[in-house]
Amino acid sequence: MSDTLLIIEDEALLGMELARFFRKRDWDVTVARSLQEAEQHLYQQSIDPLVVLSDMNLPDGNALDFLESIKDKIAGNEWVFLTGYGSVADSVRAVRLGAYDFIEKPSDPDRLNLLIEGAARSARAQRRLAQQTQAQSSRYSVDALIGDSPVTVSLRQMIRQMAQVPFSSLIISGETGTGKGLIARILHHTGNRSQAPLIELNCAALPRELLESELFGYEAGAFTGAKKRHRGLFEQAHTGTLFLDEIGEMDLDLQSKLLKAVEDLRIRRLGSETEISIDVQIIAATNVDLLQKVEQGLFRSDLYHRLNIMSLRIPSLRERKQDLEQLVPQFIGESNRKSAKNVKQISGKAWDAIKSYNWPGNIRELSNVLERCVLLSTDEHFPEQWLQLSHHSAAPLASQQRDGIFLPLDGSLSLQDMEKYVIQEVLNRTDENVTAAARMLGTTRETLRYRVQKYNLRCKS
Ligand SMILES: Nc1ncnc2c1ncn2[C@@H]1O[C@H](COP(=O)(O)OP(=O)(O)OP(=O)(O)O)[C@@H](O)[C@H]1O
Ligand SMILES: [Mg+2]
Repeated sequence: MSDTLLIIEDEALLGMELARFFRKRDWDVTVARSLQEAEQHLYQQSIDPLVVLSDMNLPDGNALDFLESIKDKIAGNEWVFLTGYGSVADSVRAVRLGAYDFIEKPSDPDRLNLLIEGAARSARAQRRLAQQTQAQSSRYSVDALIGDSPVTVSLRQMIRQMAQVPFSSLIISGETGTGKGLIARILHHTGNRSQAPLIELNCAALPRELLESELFGYEAGAFTGAKKRHRGLFEQAHTGTLFLDEIGEMDLDLQSKLLKAVEDLRIRRLGSETEISIDVQIIAATNVDLLQKVEQGLFRSDLYHRLNIMSLRIPSLRERKQDLEQLVPQFIGESNRKSAKNVKQISGKAWDAIKSYNWPGNIRELSNVLERCVLLSTDEHFPEQWLQLSHHSAAPLASQQRDGIFLPLDGSLSLQDMEKYVIQEVLNRTDENVTAAARMLGTTRETLRYRVQKYNLRCKS
């Protein structure tokens, strides 16, 4: 199918000549001899030109005024203007209005063709981007958050409401794998910033120095290795959303810089004197208790309150097991498609195992376990022998043996969770006696006391 070129030109001869020229180059050309005619073409006959080539002055008005008046109603096309000799003011205005380019009359056909080809490429890129954004937003609609438990239903309702209001920051808290990342994406893609970028940064993934230069950017020469200027994530997220995952892991002094940026709505690249205004919405996520970190002096309370303008707590999967009824078939279906399998039958025994397990790694763990089962299936029956949940289904975090502790190494527990669990377990076994517990753990009482406080555990002093 040919692309459409709309030519707006009142000189009949020139219009015909241009039309013939571009039809030969495989364009589907429509000629309008006035702005009114162009408007009719654009609206009533619903042609969708990839490129518009327009004369500046038409009998019924100026083409730039026309473009300005319809700019917001059309998208995915580029405009090229034919200007009279020396009309610099017009050309400047044309570019300001977002026109692709302008060319003086009489124009050289080869140059004109190159220009129109360039405009077509740019318009195609715009269309592709718009399509991608649309695909992303349907992928991250509120309904992508699956589950019919009362908590999940009300979570969806809250997300819908939050997406309607322009909030400046939000903290999403919840255990690992509960869907914090998914919710952040849904909020961005259904909110009023959905046309602007969503930039994600995991604060636990980078060392402090790198985290700072990623966030704020730097000028060439700001430090050894800074060869070229780098726009930081704040700048990249301008008019959009910055998603700071695992914010609890951020260094205290970087927290101060973040607070300043969020309060002043300005940042400064490393090594730069100039401040840059930024307009970003911040969504922060955490799987640790930030308030507890504040009490321990590990998280700035002013930053906490500044970010916590709104907050969402995502309950663990074991607090909403009813969701399993939608989640399990959904994940099995997705894994079927991914690995060309056809698992359809889930036995009562498999359901019992799934429902009685506590899912410490939450929905991520569920999705991984189901994917493994589907991959190992040989027919349409769900292979429950591959669930392999029974050994730690009794205890919520890990199962225990008399003189040892079992910890699942399937990614469902973070190192910190493991440490906390081990200390808790030893304290239980020693009747909360710190001296005995420290001996079992091969550490000092002071070290253990510090950890007990850090994880807010109970012990006899
Ligand atoms: N309610 C839900 N419906 C469908 N998919 C979900 C739901 N909740 C989570 N998921 C999926 O489960 C996986 C884990 O979720 P996500 O990455 O958002 O968790 P998280 O809370 O950010 O975890 P972490 O703290 O480890 O970063 C993702 O693939 C996500 O799409
Ligand atoms: Mg996440």
